[in-house]
Amino acid sequence: MRIRRARKADAREISNLRRKTLINVNGKDYAKEQIDYFMEIASPEKISENISMRDMFCIVNNENEIMGVVDLKDNKIGGLFVKHDQIGKNIGTKLLKFIEGFAKKKKLSKVHLFSTKTAIGFYDKNGYKMVEEFKWIPEEHPELKMTSYKMEKNLK
Ligand SMILES: CC(C)(COP(=O)(O)OP(=O)(O)OC[C@H]1O[C@@H](n2cnc3c(N)ncnc32)[C@H](O)[C@@H]1OP(=O)(O)O)[C@@H](O)C(=O)NCCC(=O)NCCS
Repeated sequence: MRIRRARKADAREISNLRRKTLINVNGKDYAKEQIDYFMEIASPEKISENISMRDMFCIVNNENEIMGVVDLKDNKIGGLFVKHDQIGKNIGTKLLKFIEGFAKKKKLSKVHLFSTKTAIGFYDKNGYKMVEEFKWIPEEHPELKMTSYKMEKNLK
């Protein structure tokens, strides 16, 4: 497996990966309406926009299939998703270590992220501390109540 920069041509594959992981993995922790909202913001168009605005990377196997994805914008790590049938094979750890190294090369001393409920234990294991838990309502979906978990880590 190798990690490479995401390209605009990857947007559809990344969108499919995220959407399947949302259903199969995050679905255990969220109501259907909440998953539907996360699916909306994982559209190919939105991912394509993120590829231009952020430093996004994917990990690919020998057949060049994308197995996971992560991005960095300023000092915020985002969009860490592993393909649903590849969960628990250390891919998430590899991507997280990679993006932390990339942030260090950019001379950042601290990174933060907004964790899903699903991934809190994973980030905790990787040295992230919970700094804030807050409720918010998506502008486009005032009927939804969401909770986000802000976590941060000092980079050594
Ligand atoms: C969270 C996620 C990125 C982790 O990736 P992964 O490849 O499955 O994790 P790894 O195999 O690298 O796990 C490494 C270690 O963390 C532990 N771990 C993984 N996910 C965990 C979780 N949700 N809670 C607690 N521990 C977890 C593993 O048990 C493993 O421990 P071990 O080394 O003692 O065996 C992945 O499960 C995922 O895509 N989840 C759904 C999407 C999501 O919510 N992403 C976060 C967006 S903020």
